[in-house]
Amino acid sequence: MRVSVDGVTHAFRVGKPVLADVSLDVKKGEFVSIVGPSGGGKSTLLNIVAGVLQPAQGRVLYNGTEIHAPNREVGYVTQADRLLYWRTVEQNVRLPLQFRGVRKDAAAESVARVIKLVGLEGYERYYPSQLSGGMRQRVNLARSLVYEPDTLLMDEPFGSLDAYLRVRMQKELSDIVERLAPTVVFVTHDLSEAVALSDRILVLSGRPARVTSTVEVDIPRPRDVIAVRSSEEMRELLGVLWSAVELGYDTEERES
Ligand SMILES: Nc1ncnc2c1ncn2[C@@H]1O[C@H](COP(=O)(O)OP(=O)(O)OP(=O)(O)O)[C@@H](O)[C@H]1O
Ligand SMILES: [Mg+2]
Repeated sequence: MRVSVDGVTHAFRVGKPVLADVSLDVKKGEFVSIVGPSGGGKSTLLNIVAGVLQPAQGRVLYNGTEIHAPNREVGYVTQADRLLYWRTVEQNVRLPLQFRGVRKDAAAESVARVIKLVGLEGYERYYPSQLSGGMRQRVNLARSLVYEPDTLLMDEPFGSLDAYLRVRMQKELSDIVERLAPTVVFVTHDLSEAVALSDRILVLSGRPARVTSTVEVDIPRPRDVIAVRSSEEMRELLGVLWSAVELGYDTEERES
């Protein structure tokens, strides 16, 4: 198993518990999406999977080894971008390669390729403060794609993109998935995005989050994300997911 979350329970110092006995397994090369109510604990769960947050109870295994520190083998596209404001777009995107000891000239081609992939050609020398929110998010995405990690954790990576760009990035990600077969854990609020991209979708309840249902997406790959949007499978799965997510909201209301 690439990623195993085993009985993770978490509470912050203030407030009610956030995660209640969450377990999930993600196989090598599998694309798993997580959907659920806002404030439910999805980002907290992803932080724990990335090893940047230690759970109060339970454990996370990566390739069978328990994680106690930030896992450098995964690319993590965080919900809020963590760009360095004193570095340009190009320098931000190059950072992970620099960490891995790749020289600037050797990195140039990969950096240029992913900048083009996210549609930021021409903005290489801009600083984050000179970009829009959606552009910063795309730099964040490019930075995680540049070293082609085996595993990608993505927290609402397309959340602040306009509808056109969002579909375009879904298509790019889908192509990357077909080409490189990375393992992906993907958080989204967009149910049709989850269906278009995933092999499996986990529905979380409201806080404290539990996995309340699992939906398999049996749409064959390679997928045409645009055609999938208007397919019969999409209509069916959206119906199933909608009821499952609604149930999560109800749980939250009862408990608060
Ligand atoms: N450092 C923290 N200290 C205390 N509470 C926190 C902390 N981080 C998150 N929380 C709380 O944990 C809960 C879950 O937050 P989290 O960010 O994981 O939700 P989410 O499911 O990602 O929501 P969204 O879909 O809006 O991004 C929220 O109620 C939030 O207030
Ligand atoms: Mg979040």
